[in-house]
Amino acid sequence: MPSIHRSPTSAGIGLRLPHIEEAVATRPPTAWLEIHPENFIANPHATELLSDLARSYPISVHTVGLSVGSATGIDRRHLARVRTLIALIDPVLVSGHLAWSTHGSEYLNDLLPLPYNVETMRFVADQLAEVQDGLGRTFLLENPSSYVGFSGSTMTEVQFLNELVDRADCRLLCDISNVYVSSHNMGYDARAYVDGLPAAAIGELHMGGFTREEDEATPGGEVLVDTHATHVADAAWELYAYAVGRFGRRPTLIEWDNDLPALAALLDEARRADDMATSLLDLEVSRAAR
Ligand SMILES: [Fe+2]
Repeated sequence: MPSIHRSPTSAGIGLRLPHIEEAVATRPPTAWLEIHPENFIANPHATELLSDLARSYPISVHTVGLSVGSATGIDRRHLARVRTLIALIDPVLVSGHLAWSTHGSEYLNDLLPLPYNVETMRFVADQLAEVQDGLGRTFLLENPSSYVGFSGSTMTEVQFLNELVDRADCRLLCDISNVYVSSHNMGYDARAYVDGLPAAAIGELHMGGFTREEDEATPGGEVLVDTHATHVADAAWELYAYAVGRFGRRPTLIEWDNDLPALAALLDEARRADDMATSLLDLEVSRAAR
């Protein structure tokens, strides 16, 4: 069942717990808010504040604990808890990661990678179907930031995502910063990756800051780490402009989870995304009118 709210096309910000009281008090100028349900499920006070905000803002629910890539299956108790929160706040978007973060009853504090082959395709598609049935919502699957590949992969990530969209009838959340980070770390062409995604299936974009670290495996080399701890880099903004040209305008989220700045800094980043998308689309309109 879709939300009764309309999905926004402009930029929103990630709502983290240190900002929630301020957000309730000041109603910051943002088109929408994205939350991690795991921050609210065992926190009745925060959930009450979120319900209040959900009356003013479209909300996106971005899960970090629904592990669609887990070989031991979806945690059905967690799925039920997310469903309860969804019933309360009626989000416009529901998403999660192409990754695994649980094994049986163990919850790992990381989004871990998968080999891209027919076997993982089958169980990820089955588990996506279970998540979508369990939540009663279309699920947007996010491309991961990558640091290693698998010798057991028989297809590229783009091929894997395209096939998942067809098999599981899901949509995609394209994290542009993750594309930039992964293309650097794995040595592929970021624009070719964007070109290969199914534009009609892209329901949301993410932009987050990354950190440059020494690559201990390659002398003099550097690895990009998706830390969400700083401003979005100019190179990622350039790729964002390219992606908006390819996909059109999509709801774009500024993700900042660590070394959290003042709320105003997130709003500035969201404004940058909106200004960039507006000027790109204005340019297209004026070109078409010539
Ligand atoms: Fe993301």
